[in-house]
Amino acid sequence: MNDSSFAQQQDALFEAVPDTVSVYEVGPRDGLQNETTVLTTEQKLAMIHGLIAAGISRIEITSFVNPRWIPALADHKELAARLPPREGVVFSALVPNLRGLDGACEAGMREIAVFLAASETHNRKNINKSTRAALDTYAQVIERARANGMRVRGYLSCVYGCPYEGAIDRQQVIDVGRELLDLGVYELSLGDTIGVGTPRQVVHVIEGLYRFGIGREQLAVHFHDTRGTALANITVALQLGIRTVDSAVGGLGGCPYAPGASGNVATEDVVYMLDGMGIASGVALDKLVPVSLELQANLARELPSKYLKAHLGHCARSGVRTR
Ligand code: HMG
Ligand code: MG
Repeated sequence: MNDSSFAQQQDALFEAVPDTVSVYEVGPRDGLQNETTVLTTEQKLAMIHGLIAAGISRIEITSFVNPRWIPALADHKELAARLPPREGVVFSALVPNLRGLDGACEAGMREIAVFLAASETHNRKNINKSTRAALDTYAQVIERARANGMRVRGYLSCVYGCPYEGAIDRQQVIDVGRELLDLGVYELSLGDTIGVGTPRQVVHVIEGLYRFGIGREQLAVHFHDTRGTALANITVALQLGIRTVDSAVGGLGGCPYAPGASGNVATEDVVYMLDGMGIASGVALDKLVPVSLELQANLARELPSKYLKAHLGHCARSGVRTR
């Protein structure tokens, strides 16, 4: 290959990559929902304020779900009520039904997220409903939320595989995703809930959605790094023009109703990669690190973020104290 055709190929590789990416932080919700150590409301507030100070402007703070199902987020009402609307920051929370919507409204939430899986079995385990019944419930939730002036995000999980059903047919992803968008969610986040996806699969799914008329601006990607493929998957999603990436500070996370699910891709790792690729996110890496360090201490465990580990290793070698 000569120099000019090599340069052309390189341009083509990065042609659709956006200049700016919106980082949607799920740490306080997806990150903490499965932790055995339950953080206090004060600790969660400190985490969220730390994320805001680092430049994160979209944060999923909690879930208005049954506390018997997700005990770690049982303080949802108090937490949300203690986070009044703030200029330039969007707070969101997971809502599974009208009861959850009422709670979110009472706590002053302006944005919520509804969630279901492309897998029938996962829906029955996670929200105790069939896919059809969940969509019927969400039709009511979305209609009422929008009538109240709220924005509604949608999650479609188990897009690349389900812990109960295994491989998921792409058409199922397209059909359920289309239906959620038609119900009025402004963005559909494609969840690799158990971290099984690989780059070709990501291209297959996203191209399929594009072919069915779903625009790149309507999609977000949500990867778990269970098998170490999250950043590779995000890279191809960016190459396909995706502009919103979900992540959790420190790489926290996992779904209690998805056996084998481990952490979400770490916000630090995503921001490090975006910075290196010259893609603006508005997030300051050095300000994320103290948030993760505080979480490591509060949760009494090492967090999986690779950037964090590299940073701590560097500090240890250079004799810099981190706490
Ligand atoms: P259910 O048991 O079928 O609900 O649960 P029900 O309508 O039969 O009611 C039973 C009891 O729950 C009643 O209380 C209701 O009041 C109460 P009781 O009379 O027995 O005292 N209840 C509620 N309480 C608080 N908030 C509510 C609520 N609704 C009913 N909103 C339900 C159905 C959906 C509530 C339950 O299955 C649940 O809470 N599921 C949530 C599970 C969850 O949060 N899983 C993790 C989500 S992560 C995920 O899905 C993946 C994602 O992160 C993306 C990715 O990573 O890929 C989004
Ligand atoms: Mg997740």
